[in-house]
Amino acid sequence: MPLATTHAAHLSRFPSAFAAAVHDGLTHSPQKELPSMYLYDEVGSALFEVITALPEYGVTRAEERVLSAHSADIVAELPRNVTVAELGSGSGRKTRRILEALSKKRPSGATEYCPIEISPAALQLCKRELGDIERVSIVGYERDYLAGLAEVSANRREGEVLLVLFLGSTIGNFSRLAATRFLKSIRGMLKPGDALLLGMDLLKPLDTLIAAYDDPIGVTAAFNLNLLARINRELDADIPLDAFQHLARFNPDARSIEMHLRATRPVTATIRAAKLTVEFRQGETIWTESSHKYSAEEVGPLASDAGFRCTRQWTDKEWGFAESLLVAG
Ligand code: AVJ
Repeated sequence: MPLATTHAAHLSRFPSAFAAAVHDGLTHSPQKELPSMYLYDEVGSALFEVITALPEYGVTRAEERVLSAHSADIVAELPRNVTVAELGSGSGRKTRRILEALSKKRPSGATEYCPIEISPAALQLCKRELGDIERVSIVGYERDYLAGLAEVSANRREGEVLLVLFLGSTIGNFSRLAATRFLKSIRGMLKPGDALLLGMDLLKPLDTLIAAYDDPIGVTAAFNLNLLARINRELDADIPLDAFQHLARFNPDARSIEMHLRATRPVTATIRAAKLTVEFRQGETIWTESSHKYSAEEVGPLASDAGFRCTRQWTDKEWGFAESLLVAG
């Protein structure tokens, strides 16, 4: 069945896209799964903010170190007339560095910053966080990434070069194949000379990786379990949260950390808005997220496959994180 038809069918059968996704994911065999994007409701987003402050989760601090040390170098690779589009409105802290460096380079005239984000609350927060930067004007786009980027690219002022920010290792949520496809889609919306700044978490020793996704005070566990709590809250469901356990494991074939929720006993649950009664065997898991890890050397070929050239790379050695500048060819 063509995708559009499936989607249209869902629109009529289920009250929301979330309900449709839960139905699809929990009837998926043999591995039940839920899309990681639904981890980020208001509670989930707040828990993720706490994760970024955990000593075990070095990703965010590593990227902040790279951007505070190298924003001027990054901006030096670009012309003066840059419009910035960010996929996800992110935490203002990282983006601020780049915007300040761009604004400094353009002492007369304004830099436009376009965060693209499906959550209106996150857009509001981002405007509050970054609204004070001199000579930077913020135009938020309440869209999914690709639709938003197409609009920003088409709406840009005459003579403006686009810099797309895709930070925080969010690309890690895609499989390597899907990441290439996604970068190709981005490339399709850009003009030659436009650029993409891509943040990626790097492969590192297994114990460090696992600890980052299974912290000892259980914040990541709460972040993961909140997805079931959200289903109960929003979809009129009765999933017993005490029957599920957070699990983080490394998949060596995919080179990813996978998060799962594991049933510790047999469970039957009803999710009314998803028109579903679902059974779990003891030990059965729901796969909720993958975070793929890269080597710095993989970025060049990945960029080429997608129609970019990786012209520069800045890495944080302390944790293992790479910020790469990809220029559209
Ligand atoms: C926001 C997708 C980059 O994969 O490291 C953190 C999400 N999940 N701990 C990541 C996450 C569990 C995070 N990203």
